[in-house]
Amino acid sequence: MTTLTVKLGERSYPIFIQPSLLTQANKLADYIKTNKAVLVTNTVVDPLYSQTIINSLPDIEIQKIVIADGEQYKNLASFEHVITQLLSMSAARDTTLIALGGGVIGDLTGFVAASFQRGMPFIQIPTTLLSQVDSSVGGKTAVNHPLGKNMIGAFYQPKAVFIDTTTLQTLPSKEFSAGMAEVIKYGIIYDKAFFEWLERNTAQLISQDVDALQHAIARCCEIKAEIVAIDERESGLRALLNLGHTFGHAIEAEQGYGNWLHGEAVSAGMVLAAQAGQMKGWMSEKEVQRIIALLEAFALPIAPPTEMNYQTFMQHMVHDKKVQAGKLNYILPTTIGEAVVTSDLDETLLSALLN
Ligand code: NAD
Ligand code: GLY
Repeated sequence: MTTLTVKLGERSYPIFIQPSLLTQANKLADYIKTNKAVLVTNTVVDPLYSQTIINSLPDIEIQKIVIADGEQYKNLASFEHVITQLLSMSAARDTTLIALGGGVIGDLTGFVAASFQRGMPFIQIPTTLLSQVDSSVGGKTAVNHPLGKNMIGAFYQPKAVFIDTTTLQTLPSKEFSAGMAEVIKYGIIYDKAFFEWLERNTAQLISQDVDALQHAIARCCEIKAEIVAIDERESGLRALLNLGHTFGHAIEAEQGYGNWLHGEAVSAGMVLAAQAGQMKGWMSEKEVQRIIALLEAFALPIAPPTEMNYQTFMQHMVHDKKVQAGKLNYILPTTIGEAVVTSDLDETLLSALLN
């Protein structure tokens, strides 16, 4: 088992990573203060893993809320539905919420936890690669608004994160690839040696070799924990985690949430960011090609939909949360292993890039 800590003073919490962790979920009980918990999951994950958790916790009274599957349900209607269910179950402020599922369930449940009676404890049990390496760690919670992704939310940290790498065996391969986009992101923004390890271990990761997965997930969580401990509220360093997201969110919004997977949109967005870095004279052609090759090795898209252009990108990007003082901030790699936040991308460069 790998155990990491997100160091945030009184709000510090552990991340446990291990194959088949859910079959020994009794450890979860240490993080449930009273004997009452509510498991929030969806119609796909519920039949796969809920009962294993419930069986491991015989002394905890667990109720369940199951929502429909899909990004389109990460909205205010689902938020209200979960709150209504909690009230009808007489859940209290000290009841623990357990988020079991991918980033959609984690983000929605975390936001409910932040809001219900002004805050209740919650635990993350991420079951997609993307949620195991990114969304379950760091306390960003949110739901979408029709005019923009993650527009309603809060920073609210979980009490613990339980990562069972075996759950990835039931994940569709397209979803696994989407998670790999976020894994590759860490290499590009922060850790050249990890990027090179990914280049060498592509086949092992695709075949879900247990040790390779454990290493990749642990390294991503370690990097994320380090960044969040320094900059929890994204006043600087944490913004680097959004590499590819400004362009990616525009792709997701333009295509309708759920049609391009988040990780797929981030993949195409990271290529645009790398190409912009090259146009700025920072990235070499060879480095951009290495990024493209690694993303392609995991069957990820390396360009946005052909019908999108400068105008369609900009329509969506003006709503981006990285707009400050009217200027849009972009995360651009300067070399593999390093990235910067910059607002210095002029219209000529952007239109050449996006057209
Ligand atoms: P998701 O939650 O929609 O899960 C993807 C699909 O896999 C769903 O159909 C789900 O039901 C299914 N699934 C989940 N676990 C499974 C398993 N083990 N076996 C079989 N099927 C399984 O999508 P995601 O990619 O996990 O998360 C995307 C969301 O995460 C987006 O809303 C994005 O905005 C958010 N996100 C948040 C953060 C953050 O810091 N909070 C970071 C990155 C992404
Ligand atoms: N996924 C970006 C962040 O957590 O900051």
